Amino acid sequence: MKTTLILSLGLLMAVPVAFAEEDAPFVWSRATLALIESGDPARGQEVADKARCQKCHGEVGVSEDDATPSVAGQVRGYAYKQLVDFKTGVRENRDMQKATRKLSRQDMADLAAFYATQTPEPPASTAPAPRLVALGDEGRLLLPCAVCHGENGEGWGQQVPSLAGQKIDHFVETMTAYQNGERANDEFARMRFIAGQLTTEEITEIATHYAAARVEEEEE
Ligand code: HEC
Ligand code: HEC
Repeated sequence: MKTTLILSLGLLMAVPVAFAEEDAPFVWSRATLALIESGDPARGQEVADKARCQKCHGEVGVSEDDATPSVAGQVRGYAYKQLVDFKTGVRENRDMQKATRKLSRQDMADLAAFYATQTPEPPASTAPAPRLVALGDEGRLLLPCAVCHGENGEGWGQQVPSLAGQKIDHFVETMTAYQNGERANDEFARMRFIAGQLTTEEITEIATHYAAARVEEEEE
């Protein structure tokens, strides 16, 4: 009886410690920012090679199909947060859950630093930005996408992802996932609200504006 009690107490105490270290949910804090900034691109490349990230995201973070996001030139803090969210299951994806299972927080900071220093594909379109990107829509409480994602879709600070040169099918799929709540790891539900106001046609138009050239077109 006594032994069982001691054992269960021991277990109860061991679990939160392990949780705090590697499986704790993501939070923005000074400590998080310091860890992100400590990321080492050279070490990140080694971790990427070992974890075989290039199988899906290409040698230097430019994906080979339109449904897999490119990660080259992605904002460090955003990429780091996504890796933590996949590992902790806050953002659901079988491939990414598997890919992040053995990664430490430092590995993730190093990976984010490596991909941030790679060059993204340029957007295929040079046409002026669609109205919603440049001006938003007051009637639907929509700020222009450019306010947060940058004039040229380059992202902002550590939190807001770059969209320039993103793969078109991933863009549409992820906006649809925000709409139906399958992707729910955006803070304050900001992107879920925004995506929820948009029609499929508007999402496709915006995705086309930011996206890299289609892979099929390049091969022709
Ligand atoms: C088997 C294929 C596969 C492997 C291996 C893989 N990924 Fe992914 N990755 C994906 C897919 C698919 C998504 C999009 C998931 C979604 O939107 O639900 C993704 C998403 C991501 C994202 C978020 C991108 C964004 O724009 O939000 C990052 C960052 C990322 N992967 C980095 C990595 C790293 C680093 C590795 C290696 C440790 C890796 N991936 C290994 C397929 C893969
Ligand atoms: C108020 C700021 C803000 C505005 C305005 C905004 N976004 Fe976002 N967006 C964000 C943030 C922050 C994230 C990252 C969420 C997270 O942490 O997962 C994001 C994520 C995204 C992603 C996911 C990127 C990826 O690689 O998977 C897409 C796509 C996106 N936004 C498109 C848009 C579009 C299109 C608009 C305009 C209609 C828009 N956003 C307006 C802040 C904003």
